[in-house]
Amino acid sequence: MSIAELTPIEAKARIVAQECDVTGNRWEVLSDFYKLPHDVAGLRIVDICAGESDLTAVLTDLGADAVAVDMGYVDPNLLHQRKIRTFKSGLIRSGLDPESVARIQPAEFERDTQRFMRSFVRNPERYISASALALPFEEGRFDHVLSFFGIVGVFEEDMQMLRKAMNEAIRVTKPGGQIQIGPAADGTQTHQGRINTGRLVTELMARGDRLAVSTEFFEFRGLGSQRITMVKK
Ligand SMILES: C[S@@+](CC[C@H](N)C(=O)[O-])C[C@H]1O[C@@H](n2cnc3c(N)ncnc32)[C@H](O)[C@@H]1O
Repeated sequence: MSIAELTPIEAKARIVAQECDVTGNRWEVLSDFYKLPHDVAGLRIVDICAGESDLTAVLTDLGADAVAVDMGYVDPNLLHQRKIRTFKSGLIRSGLDPESVARIQPAEFERDTQRFMRSFVRNPERYISASALALPFEEGRFDHVLSFFGIVGVFEEDMQMLRKAMNEAIRVTKPGGQIQIGPAADGTQTHQGRINTGRLVTELMARGDRLAVSTEFFEFRGLGSQRITMVKK
């Protein structure tokens, strides 16, 4: 489908997806963030806007029926190049000189994402190229719906996209299932824009008939941020 045939929100989402940061946060970080049962065997879990994270790889090894969704999976090589770019520009922003950053060898980045890459090749059916705004799953499919630097991180500047992504996450969660998203730092000015988390949480709490919403503090890279947890009623 050409960009001219898309609805304005879908067209904007395509552009955001092409321009946003790409990361690959590792299980060691994410298992600290998410509150998951000790035994995940048999649970259906989806990671939305998963990038090069190895979360799905590890959950699959632990016996979960885990899948990852990212628009970038249409071209994993391009996704990897964008991840390297994101990492390098982060180093430059944090004060490293661009020449030293340019000399960093690609192997340095591959070491970090080996688990993701092996799993992607071994289980391609678990890495689904789709939009978070139109998830290709039936209603109530998942026990756990997870998104780190995805639903909040990619869409937070635009309430319309944020709402659409949230509605999709809620739709694919089964009654009694959990949605966990973050890290969310309300009002923080990131290089991608101002985070609308407070507004999102207020809107979610107003849906008390469908969701039990709670927020907890989570310290991520020196940012005071939050984990938003929702249980679908
Ligand atoms: C900052 S990365 C986060 C990756 C991962 N969750 C992590 O913690 O490292 C954001 C990811 O969202 C993906 N993305 C952006 N817009 C999307 C959309 N509309 N649907 C699905 N994925 C999208 C990008 O391709 C990118 O890989």
